[in-house]
Parts: sequence; structure tokens; C-alpha cells
Amino acid sequence: MDYKPLIQQVTKTYCSIYKLYYLTHSCHWCVEGKDFYEMHKLLEKQYESIWESVDDTAEKIRQLDAYPPSSLTFVYNTGEQFEDCSKFPVHEMAKSLVTAHDKMISSLNDSIQDSKKVGREDLTSYFGELWEEHSKMRWMLRATSKRYNNEQDTTTTED
Ligand SMILES: [Fe+2]
Repeated sequence: MDYKPLIQQVTKTYCSIYKLYYLTHSCHWCVEGKDFYEMHKLLEKQYESIWESVDDTAEKIRQLDAYPPSSLTFVYNTGEQFEDCSKFPVHEMAKSLVTAHDKMISSLNDSIQDSKKVGREDLTSYFGELWEEHSKMRWMLRATSKRYNNEQDTTTTED
């Protein structure tokens, strides 16, 4: 079985997870304002969970007899790119992180599809679990973003 395309896709997902981990931790450090503590704690829970999946995903790459990237430049240039929202006001930060999780979920979908193609059900279910975790994080951030400034909800019900 040729695992090369799967390894490439999982590596992209790995790089995206690593960057989302760092972004979430940065937001945890930099958040300011009246709801500082609540957001600070929410982001702490999230970056801890994402950090675990950085490790687990690197080990999935090893289980495919490949190596996770060791260069941060490579990590930076590979996979999804996220907006640095760490200095944004809380509601803007939460909105931008929702977009980041949307991208993350899309990358996980690609890894789920590529795992299915080569019959790696172990990876299909692993990335499915991550999909569920990011979907939950996205929901919490989206709910947080709605709490501020009588903000109008311009999103539709389809998401
Ligand atoms: Fe901390």
C-alpha cells in the first residue's frame, strides 16, 4: 500500500495543529479586558488539549514509518495559515479563532478522507475524534464571541 499521499496529508494536518496550538497559547497569554480571566482559562483548556494532539499526531506519523518535521520553518510554511489574533479585543479574538478551527476541521476532513482511501481505520477514527474536539472548541469560541457589545449574529443557521 502506498502511504505517501496519506503521510503528506497527515503532515499538513500536524503542522496546522502545531500552529493552532501556538496561536491558542499566545491568545491565552495576551488576552485583555473585563472577561480576561474567563477567556484566559478557556484558552488554557484548549491549548492543553491541542498540545496533546500535537504529540499524538506526530506519533501517528511515526506509525506510518515516516518522520514528523523537525524544522519550525517547515511547520510554518505547511498546512493552514492562521491570523495572529492574540492582540485583538476578546470578541474579535474569539471570532478569529472560530475561523482558525474551521480551517483545522477542514484539514482534519482531508486526513479522514485520505485515511479511508487506504483503509487505515485506526487513523480515520483518530482524526474523527480530533474533528469532534475541534468542533467543540469552535462552538465554545463562537458562543463566547456572541457575548459582547450586543453584537448582531450575522451567521446563518447552516453552521
Ligand atoms: Fe498560562
